[in-house]
Amino acid sequence: MKIMQTTTPSNSLQSFEEHESEVRSYIRAFPAVFERAQGSQLFDERGQAYLDFFSGAGALNYGHNHPQLKQELMDYLAGDGITHSLDMATGAKRHFIDKFQSVVLEPRQMEYRLLFPGPTGTNAVEAALKLARKSTGRSTVFAFQGGFHGMTLGSLAITSNTMKRGGAGQALSHTRLLPFDGEMKDGMDSLTFLQNALETAQREGELPAAVVLETVQCEGGVRVASAHWLRGVERLCRQAGVLLIVDDIQAGCGRTGRFFSFEESGVRPDIVCLSKSLSGLGIPFSLVLLRPELDVFQPGEHNGTFRGHNLAFVTAASALSFWEDHRFQRTVAAKALLLQDRLDSLVESQPELEMEVRGRGLVQGIVFEDQELAGQVAKECFARGLIIETAGHHDEVLKFLPALTMDVALLEQGLEVVEASLQAVASQLPQESVLV
Ligand SMILES: Cc1ncc(COP(=O)(O)O)c(C=O)c1O
Repeated sequence: MKIMQTTTPSNSLQSFEEHESEVRSYIRAFPAVFERAQGSQLFDERGQAYLDFFSGAGALNYGHNHPQLKQELMDYLAGDGITHSLDMATGAKRHFIDKFQSVVLEPRQMEYRLLFPGPTGTNAVEAALKLARKSTGRSTVFAFQGGFHGMTLGSLAITSNTMKRGGAGQALSHTRLLPFDGEMKDGMDSLTFLQNALETAQREGELPAAVVLETVQCEGGVRVASAHWLRGVERLCRQAGVLLIVDDIQAGCGRTGRFFSFEESGVRPDIVCLSKSLSGLGIPFSLVLLRPELDVFQPGEHNGTFRGHNLAFVTAASALSFWEDHRFQRTVAAKALLLQDRLDSLVESQPELEMEVRGRGLVQGIVFEDQELAGQVAKECFARGLIIETAGHHDEVLKFLPALTMDVALLEQGLEVVEASLQAVASQLPQESVLV
């Protein structure tokens, strides 16, 4: 295998530190120079192996360089397949559209049009917001505290993290953030709060165009909405004539067990945003699904140079084949059970760390009462060769995002590293905070 030659084959971060913007972030948590990866393992330039519980923040649900996806891409490139086409027709694009129809939409009796926005998740959210506003003629959008939808101005306006919002350098308007499932505000549960907000907006002639939500707020700290709450939000939207947009960018593509994260709840969003693991190989690719009545853009009214990407069409179509077979879904469910069980035992075995487990499917989190500890545990994990990130408004959650395809043996191995890291952090706690 040909590996990129560098002048400093020593995990040196000097070039990044001297020349890259201060905005760089994950490189600070995982300070190594990564060279190659396969399945759930990455290797740095010194050949050191790392287990991956991060999966490119959810962009690698099928692991790194899945052999089937990689082969299809190599064949396509070897055959001089079209790599760039704007939104002209290509065989690769048609194959993806037909496969998405037959593997995802038809079996679920879903009728959506497919809109390919720019390649990143935030491009999908922006397109969804524009569609909702244009089709309803209303400009306000409701979203939820703890939600994360991307860094461009429209998506940032419905993202609640104050540090990220601060990066805008301008007012973020035409949005309102409401309490999420499980949160109370003004003595009201979140559904009653939403109902009141919609009724007030209706009385004042200021109904929002849409309500946008994540079924699991992954970046927000693995906060899971119940099926009851999701159905409640859908009912309130329908009653008020407001669109429901599900941002399934991180929780979708099988992360919670089924292809869409809202399937189990029975909710039928008006618009769905997909990205991250849709291409299956980490190639930037996004898709907006919309009810046919909402298909209101004029030809070219929402365009872009990288709207739809042929290399991603190839790998995404190939990745859909995993969903043709129910066995895949069953293996994800089995691994999710194993992960939940093991996390429950870990949390019980270290009561002095005051932790709680929450999550759905293969997105799980350990929430620490002491907000500093999640970062310390992640750091200990990295020192032991495991890549795992933190999430939540204060980075108080250790977030587990293994590939859906991760070998059970490697999953167990990663959990052993987490256990050792928890023990290391517990042993450094000041004596008075130890309960026993
Ligand atoms: C739910 C959700 N929506 C949108 C985005 C933005 O995607 P991108 O970073 O590709 O713009 C993310 C990214 O983490 C996300 O988790």
